[in-house]
Amino acid sequence: MADSTTGEAFVEFERVQKSYDGENLVVKDLNLSMPKGEFLTMLGPSGSGKTTCLMMLAGFETATHGDIRLGGTSINNIPPHKRGIGMVFQNYALFPHMTIAENLSFPLEVRKIGKSEREKKVQHALDMVEMGAFGGRRPAQLSGGQQQRIALARALVFEPELVLMDEPLGALDKQLREKMQFEITDLAHRLGITTVYVTHDQTEALTMSDRVAVFDDGRIQQLAPPDLLYEEPENSFVAQFIGENNTMLGVVKEIRGEEALVQLDGGELIDCKPVNVTAVGDRTRVSIRPERVEYNPERLKPGAHTLKAEVLEFIYMGDIFRTRLRVAGNDEFIIKTRNAPDQRRLSPGEQIEIGWLPQDCRALDA
Ligand SMILES: Nc1ncnc2c1ncn2[C@@H]1O[C@H](COP(=O)(O)OP(=O)(O)OP(=O)(O)O)[C@@H](O)[C@H]1O
Ligand SMILES: [Mg+2]
Repeated sequence: MADSTTGEAFVEFERVQKSYDGENLVVKDLNLSMPKGEFLTMLGPSGSGKTTCLMMLAGFETATHGDIRLGGTSINNIPPHKRGIGMVFQNYALFPHMTIAENLSFPLEVRKIGKSEREKKVQHALDMVEMGAFGGRRPAQLSGGQQQRIALARALVFEPELVLMDEPLGALDKQLREKMQFEITDLAHRLGITTVYVTHDQTEALTMSDRVAVFDDGRIQQLAPPDLLYEEPENSFVAQFIGENNTMLGVVKEIRGEEALVQLDGGELIDCKPVNVTAVGDRTRVSIRPERVEYNPERLKPGAHTLKAEVLEFIYMGDIFRTRLRVAGNDEFIIKTRNAPDQRRLSPGEQIEIGWLPQDCRALDA
């Protein structure tokens, strides 16, 4: 199934299921279609099935049901080394007894590439990750970040069309991680490589990817570009997994087109955007981002919805103010306000009125 919005499909999962024990499905009905050159990240909690999906694509595991295609051809019966896929895994160690150059040469030898050609490709791959002078060292003589770059070079040295990376930066400190995030996406885009990247770090996923597939419980909960995922979560899981959200439980009282009237459990009536509620009487979790809530009466937009709130905590964080409120019985209602010279600061105990636009408040599954 080609994705008509993004071009012809290069990697496809169609109705893929996986069970390790013949009983429980750890991947349930996975459908995914990636165009060539896309950088797609699988993001989700531990055990949600991300690595299993990569392993099936790589050929180290077979799908229990469904079809996986690469360039339009079903790969279910093609062994891993014939799939032409480069791989970088968190614990996919370099061979310790070989030099860096020998490590990189290995995938080329397996592919029966001649000596002089191998040497040229190895040097080129090392230069690409700025490790050109390190070919003679052994892995133990490199820092963690340098080893990671070599692992990346080894995955790319045979010029694969598809690269799979499973938490490749998990072991690195924050600074190096951020540098490598940039290097990986830059390299992938420059070489036009199609990449499937796995992480459970949402910032990493949002900053690196063309699209993110949010996994939970063996299913893709939402597949979208980073901004859409953040702005328009389609269900409660995604709304709470990506970024911060205030949520309140209630019941749908009315649905008219693009607006739903919800009665919160505390009794308050609010207008929301109906996202995945279908009928009057549905239980719902309404969800609103902390930065979409306004407490300056003069800055409230026309049509904004208002509620009374009590300030419980006000934290000065430099660029923003973070305020915790009691709203409709919820003591964990957070708002974030940009620090500006004319921005009023709040104090605990203060009674205020907050407001937001109905379209910023999403009525999701309870
Ligand atoms: N070889 C295996 N045999 C049996 N069960 C397995 C095997 N590998 C994974 N599982 C189970 O399948 C489920 C999905 O595992 P998977 O490794 O795909 O999750 P993940 O999303 O990569 O998690 P993490 O973020 O912790 O790496 C888990 O419940 C796990 O226990
Ligand atoms: Mg995993």
